[in-house]
Amino acid sequence: MTDKDTLKQNVLSRKPQSYWLTSTEKTEYPVLNDDIKADIAIVGGGMVGISCAYLLKDENIRIVILEADRILQGTTGHTTAKVTSQHNIIYSKIQSQMGNELARQYAEANESAIKLISSITNELGIECDLVPQYAYVYTQQEKHIQTISDEVRAAAAASIAADYVEELPVGLPIKAAVRFADQAQFHPRKYLLALAKKITDKGISIFEQSRVVDIEEDGPYLLTTQNGKKIQADKVIIASHYPFYNKDGLYFSRIYTERSYVAAVKPANDYPGGMYISYENPTRSLRSQTIPEGELILVGGENHKTGQAKDTLKNYEALIDFAFDNFEVEDIPYHWSTQDCMTHDGIPYVGYFAETTPNLYLATGYGKWGMTNSTASAMIVRDLIMHGTSPWENVYSPSRKATVTSAKSFVVQNLNVAEKFIAGKISPPDSPLNTTCTHMGCELCWNKAERTWDCPCHGSRFSEKGDIIEGPAVSPLEKNHDVNTVEKLIKDDF
Ligand SMILES: Cc1cc2nc3c(=O)[nH]c(=O)nc-3n(C[C@H](O)[C@H](O)[C@H](O)COP(=O)(O)OP(=O)(O)OC[C@H]3O[C@@H](n4cnc5c(N)ncnc54)[C@H](O)[C@@H]3O)c2cc1C
Ligand code: FES
Repeated sequence: MTDKDTLKQNVLSRKPQSYWLTSTEKTEYPVLNDDIKADIAIVGGGMVGISCAYLLKDENIRIVILEADRILQGTTGHTTAKVTSQHNIIYSKIQSQMGNELARQYAEANESAIKLISSITNELGIECDLVPQYAYVYTQQEKHIQTISDEVRAAAAASIAADYVEELPVGLPIKAAVRFADQAQFHPRKYLLALAKKITDKGISIFEQSRVVDIEEDGPYLLTTQNGKKIQADKVIIASHYPFYNKDGLYFSRIYTERSYVAAVKPANDYPGGMYISYENPTRSLRSQTIPEGELILVGGENHKTGQAKDTLKNYEALIDFAFDNFEVEDIPYHWSTQDCMTHDGIPYVGYFAETTPNLYLATGYGKWGMTNSTASAMIVRDLIMHGTSPWENVYSPSRKATVTSAKSFVVQNLNVAEKFIAGKISPPDSPLNTTCTHMGCELCWNKAERTWDCPCHGSRFSEKGDIIEGPAVSPLEKNHDVNTVEKLIKDDF
């Protein structure tokens, strides 16, 4: 067996790298260099943007996708890609806070998404390692057994095949678990790159390195890219992960971002199958992935709000410790992390951006369950555009009111954001670094493991040189400081 400390040192000295990105070709779609007109402009080329375009491709509509960087390299390129209607404990929560009918809608949307991903894969003959699996949420604590039982009952009431079990194939000691049948795992980029190819074959244009920095309402929408090109579009779908556009939606007070980590472990023994997630903290998530050299176990977990961890190397270390405690570890060839948008009640915001914007659509807030939810979002947005209604629009409605419980927990999240604004204001005025976020002015934090500047308020991230890695910020950091000093400070890790 490999020595844990040596392997840890080796892993942490390497740059984080996603297996999904390493194992697929890079894309090279052109930059938008002309002013254009479209019926629908999709902002963002992640799983949401590509899936929306795919479902609209046969409708005889002029569609354009505008991607800030390269498609499918954001959260979608760094996910763990479990394709499930099981989203930790969710059905009992929806049922108790919003009622049976909305729990049923959520279940139906996500079960339909699993089926759609499977039928598209078969129809196009995509080799994306799609494998059926059981999915489990487990607890190792007596006090949570009731929560597991409640979820089994609520899922069954929402017509999902769910069982209560007391043992896991993977052998972790547990008190109880809920098991969903007919779930799946896949390689997200293999699946979505095939969809991207199909939509461009159908005449849909994808423009990369074409960040949208502004949207004006003027009859049709007028979008502006970072190099000043204009797109006139009758309808706009915001699929940019965190919505950078905020008019009427107040999303900055309704979404926060949370990061988590993955260590891809090469085990000495065969993995027994199954996808797992713990109910309690610290979250631990498991699934396998076949690779040309054998098999990986993707060990995930270690959540924290973006920009709010003291030492992000420690998050990877904790996952490596967990892997050594539970498996015979041979190697850890990949490790990576990413973040997702969290909403007040754990349900995404999908539909009309606001009640006053019938031609502006939004799909975000997947709470780390975006594979099926983004596919369901594409079905909802397609149905709203083509038929003005969707069978699942109520549960996902961005305009839904917060319940008392979810509103309370969100007040706490926003107090935390308010603190970070204050922290920004009292930072020393003679600081050599201009590390104030260009979005709304919070002070950025240095992320040691990823070597990025991360914003604790709404999750924007910047490279060590100040370029945008992810929004909602649309402008890079000001570079009028002494770059040599910044580089030296980064080298010393502050
Ligand atoms: C660690 C982790 C593990 C996860 N594991 C799972 C899982 O096992 N199963 C599951 O269902 N879900 C999982 N998720 C969630 C899932 O990966 C995400 O919800 C999903 O990938 C989000 O897709 P997206 O298209 O919204 O975002 P992204 O993939 O981030 O795409 C958004 C795109 O928009 C672009 N963009 C941003 N701003 C602009 C702009 N102004 N102009 C133009 N383009 C812009 C970005 O560059 C990016 O390419 C996980 C999430 C995390 C954090
Ligand atoms: S992302 Fe909003 S202030 Fe930084």
